[in-house]
Amino acid sequence: TKRVAILISGGGSNMVALARSMEGAHPAKPVLVLSNDPKAGGLAKAHDMGIATASVDHRPFGKDRAAFEAALDSALQKASPDIVCLAGFMRILTPEFTRQWEGRMLNIHPSLLPKYKGLHTHARALEAGDTEHGCTVHEVTAALDDGPILGQARLTINADDTPDRLAARLLPLEHRLYPAVLRRFAEGDKTPVFI
Ligand code: GAR
Repeated sequence: TKRVAILISGGGSNMVALARSMEGAHPAKPVLVLSNDPKAGGLAKAHDMGIATASVDHRPFGKDRAAFEAALDSALQKASPDIVCLAGFMRILTPEFTRQWEGRMLNIHPSLLPKYKGLHTHARALEAGDTEHGCTVHEVTAALDDGPILGQARLTINADDTPDRLAARLLPLEHRLYPAVLRRFAEGDKTPVFI
């Protein structure tokens, strides 16, 4: 059974979807939910699900990313994960950090990559007049929101969509896509999942 650590910064709805998907017969199990925000709502949810939690507050480290990442890495290493899932983790990780986890770290991003790397993806899709939007799970490499695509889920943009509405309509698709990709990935299968 592969050991999975999940990194979050907020509510952790994707983390919950991943953790639920690993209940029952599954090639992986959650061993740690780790947050850069000690107050992240997802930590309590993980605790209630019986998953070990930890946090490494990024704020005391200020601009010293290397020191923050050293602390993050040490918290991660204690759980000896085989796979690390970024699930709404909102800190940019340096190439030095991601290199260590390359091939073992996944991320979910709320756009149809390679479109709209970075922030405000829903607003940017609307501003561009796109007719479709979606989310992507990809392997994490040194470049932000780059790396081999392991799955995408898409939806049609409606005339009355706002960034908030789009985000809300996309979230259930994220909750289907990420578990589907994780299951395959844990089985050693990197064939992309398209929903
Ligand atoms: C999700 O929509 C995820 O795709 C996005 O943050 C949200 C987290 O929600 N991730 C990013 O924007 C990464 N740059 P959650 O905490 O409820 O899973």
